[in-house]
Amino acid sequence: MLKILVIHGPNLDLLGTREVGVYGELTIEDINDALNKHAKSKGASLEIVQSNHEGDIVDLIGKSNGKFDAILINPAAYTHTSVAIRDAISAVQVPTVEVHLSNIYAREEFRHTSLIAPVAKGQVSGFGKMSYILGLEAAISVIKK
Ligand code: DQA
Repeated sequence: MLKILVIHGPNLDLLGTREVGVYGELTIEDINDALNKHAKSKGASLEIVQSNHEGDIVDLIGKSNGKFDAILINPAAYTHTSVAIRDAISAVQVPTVEVHLSNIYAREEFRHTSLIAPVAKGQVSGFGKMSYILGLEAAISVIKK
């Protein structure tokens, strides 16, 4: 069975009430339910973690070698600031797919730069919950290649 680590970054625990004009009313549980359902249909098992702490995310990625076949991450605000998360992804041999609910390129200029994208296999941005499902599909296809 394929094992995939899903990481939700800071403030994604607040989905449902957070900036509903941008992110809609869906909650992190809605996303996780959809991911688990999709993973099951593809024979994959997920470990899903949400953290507001950069160091915790670095630790999770650093310990992923040999434990997970791929990482699916929405680094949230750390996308635009975290050299530490980028370096953690570079340091391990686990293919990583970056996802965003919103289209970061259609928002404020500071969101146009992802420090993560150059070390990710690829990025899905702008499709709400579907970004995660498409990202999961991409992660599975990268593993199977
Ligand atoms: C986000 C986009 C980021 O710019 C923002 O800081 C988030 C969420 C998204 O999923 O659209 O927290 O990663």
